[in-house]
Amino acid sequence: MKKTLVLATALALGTSSLAYAQSYPTKPITMIVPFSAGGPTDTVTRLVARAMSEELGQQIVVENVGGAGGTLGAARVAQAENDGYTLLLHHIGMATTAVLYRELPYNALEDFEYVGLVTEVPMVFVSRPDLELETMEDLVEWAKEEGEGALYANAGIGAASHLCGLMFMNAIDTQLTTIPYQGTGPALTDLMGGQVDVMCDQTTNTTQQIRDGSIKGFAVTVPERLDNLPDLPTMAESGLDGFEVSIWHGIYAPAGTDSEIISKLSEALQTALEDETVIERFADLGTVPSPQEDATAEALRAKVESEIDVWRPIIEEAGVYAN
Ligand code: MLT
Repeated sequence: MKKTLVLATALALGTSSLAYAQSYPTKPITMIVPFSAGGPTDTVTRLVARAMSEELGQQIVVENVGGAGGTLGAARVAQAENDGYTLLLHHIGMATTAVLYRELPYNALEDFEYVGLVTEVPMVFVSRPDLELETMEDLVEWAKEEGEGALYANAGIGAASHLCGLMFMNAIDTQLTTIPYQGTGPALTDLMGGQVDVMCDQTTNTTQQIRDGSIKGFAVTVPERLDNLPDLPTMAESGLDGFEVSIWHGIYAPAGTDSEIISKLSEALQTALEDETVIERFADLGTVPSPQEDATAEALRAKVESEIDVWRPIIEEAGVYAN
């Protein structure tokens, strides 16, 4: 039901769109994750959705629509009814796919309303547990020797794991063989099982597994070492100067969703980001909630716009496109 239809229905029922927005939400909300269940985006979404639903007084049902680097899930939300009952939680891929895909069934800047930023997550290079390497320097040497014999798992073109891999292969001037999944949840399972060799993934999906030894961790992609994985050096400490990337996440609704509804969602997000469980779980996974002033429509729109500008020249120079 597009906005005009929502309004027409409300008027026919003798109510106004304001009343419609004021009583929102009156039924469960669906929040689409554009990657598989059990992965980093899913983990962040489930934590935030629980806290938001307490604030909104309605359940938020998380639905995973993985595939094509997150673009299938994003398309589902762009094309959904703009009644406030279908939302998207997506990451940096919202900006990078706008450049990586010459054709998309949606426009990141025109087909969504923006609710706010959620968090920014570091990434970490990891390998299967039995890969006999100790340091990031060893991993670089091994990758250069193996070349296409090395299997690098990612979540499709536009995923964070794809971007990090692209940056790595450019930095060491070596192509590895990429194995795409619908998300790094299943990719991590295969990494633990030794079906693939290496991956660069968010700490929200890898911290526990590095700690318990079911995968090996090598280096983090942020300027400082992390409190929760203090033994891991940064990429710069490991000889890869300037190799920095962290993965921001935001919440979106289909274009034309009533601004009152968007305000309610932004306020619920701001409350969720102050929730003790969210803060504690995020800290344990190596991240922190976005500051309150960033959990707004304006801050998320500014982020998407500026990140498209940041990534466009990098992607154009690499000349890697999905279609
Ligand atoms: C996921 O949730 O599976 C990841 O965020 C995928 C990725 O971007 O690498």
